[in-house]
Amino acid sequence: MKVIDSYNVESEGITAQVQIVDDETFTNMYLLHRTKVRKSTAAVMDFLKQRIIDAVNISASEIANFSAWETLRVNVKKKAHELVRTELGGLNAKEEDLLVGKLLQEMLGISELEFFLCDEQLEEVVVISSKDPVWVYHRKYGWLRTNVDIQTEDQIRNYAAIMGRRVGKQITNLDPLMDAYLLSGHRVNATLAPVSAKGNSITIRKFRKDPFTVIDFISPSLNTTSAEALAFIWLAVQYEMNLLVGGGTASGKTSFLNAILAFTPPNQRIISIEDTRELMLPSYLHWTPMVTRLPNPEGKGGVSMLDLAVNSLRMRPDRIVLGEVRRQSEAEVLFEAMHTGHAVYSTVHADDAAQMKSRLISPPINLPEQFLSAMHLAVVQYRQRRTGIRRTTEIAEINPGERGTSFNVVFQWNAQDDALEKVDEHIRVDNEIKARTGMKQKEITADLEQKRAILLAMSAAGISHVDDVGVIFAKYYKSPKLVAESAEKGAKEMRKLL
Ligand SMILES: Nc1ncnc2c1ncn2[C@@H]1O[C@H](COP(=O)(O)OP(=O)(O)OP(=O)(O)O)[C@@H](O)[C@H]1O
Ligand SMILES: [Mg+2]
Repeated sequence: MKVIDSYNVESEGITAQVQIVDDETFTNMYLLHRTKVRKSTAAVMDFLKQRIIDAVNISASEIANFSAWETLRVNVKKKAHELVRTELGGLNAKEEDLLVGKLLQEMLGISELEFFLCDEQLEEVVVISSKDPVWVYHRKYGWLRTNVDIQTEDQIRNYAAIMGRRVGKQITNLDPLMDAYLLSGHRVNATLAPVSAKGNSITIRKFRKDPFTVIDFISPSLNTTSAEALAFIWLAVQYEMNLLVGGGTASGKTSFLNAILAFTPPNQRIISIEDTRELMLPSYLHWTPMVTRLPNPEGKGGVSMLDLAVNSLRMRPDRIVLGEVRRQSEAEVLFEAMHTGHAVYSTVHADDAAQMKSRLISPPINLPEQFLSAMHLAVVQYRQRRTGIRRTTEIAEINPGERGTSFNVVFQWNAQDDALEKVDEHIRVDNEIKARTGMKQKEITADLEQKRAILLAMSAAGISHVDDVGVIFAKYYKSPKLVAESAEKGAKEMRKLL
């Protein structure tokens, strides 16, 4: 067994050691070394849990409300310390913290899985059944088996129920599929057997506390896209072109969309509509995020994407962001919004530009092809399953034509050199900008070059946090000259802008 990597994670004040090891099976392993409590202590802990529940009234309303939840946590923690001290006397501080941490993990969280939620290196946590180990997707090492399992199917179901309840969702035999999110922002999907044949399952897509920014995307460590391509997207976003991001599952569509929305001028109103809250824009932007809601068990109170999309048109938005287009009704509202003069952004599940088109014009989305021409740009994200790298593989202009719409690929990823290359001129975007602003081609070219230089200067200056990136773009819209001059002078001047 070879140790490839090792680091610590912390949850509820308990530190556990993580080792990534090659144990000569087909996949590497993620070993979580946590201190286990003795059987006798475990029995006492069950008793303590009951005492805490009796002492701290845990009501449903508290569980569904973030600030009430925080208060509840504080109360449970206080009570736990008190009881551990009086009932188990003679523990040192470290032992006491361990027991209190465990009580918190078990009573308010999902036990040992909490460690995975606290490991910033993990993208996904997957429970397949009680007979399989928990699997995780690691940023650096991809899929890994862990040494953690959940003993019974009931326990898995119980975790799913707990996570659902907090956001008002249920999972039952009659309704065995559930989408929910945790208050910490992580997205959860759960399924019950026999629909998931091996057993009850839980998939948690972890939410990054600091979202990726366009500057992260051009860093050598991610190398997702190029500064030249981003300058073009920046130009397109600035001049209110409509844009759709395509890609396969977990290819980084939402992250890409989120990052490029930072190019929006701060004096424009953005309304976003999602099933679960994922977008996280720079704090200065004029942004109203909206989320859908499922109906209650009596079938009342549901708010769909379509409801919100229709409603958003009455909220005087400049820009409308729809998390994902899945159905015809949503797509229709989206394209309606474009026709009524709003800039629109969304994502769609498709592997390349050509498939994006066919997805949009065939069921279940089924848009009339002539609608598509209202969309200006298509961006395609790609995840290589083997290595886990993410790349922008295509940026295409969508051109209306006599024989239907066509996709003109402007940037194309070259797998050999691992580079996003410019393969054609952009025409439609430039023409529309010229028609709207009177700019000349030379000016557009100079503007693109300036944007590219600013992005590179930000990268060199290490300005990559979402809010810092936001500040630079906001300053740019106030005075492009000031930002461009700072970029020319170098990293130090760039940082002075913050
Ligand atoms: N450019 C990138 N480089 C590295 N990791 C990325 C990149 N973009 C996204 N990720 C990571 O990949 C995971 C999936 O990202 P994201 O949710 O954006 O994908 P998606 O295509 O929208 O997924 P879904 O199909 O579920 O909607 C996240 O953990 C995210 O942090
Ligand atoms: Mg997504």
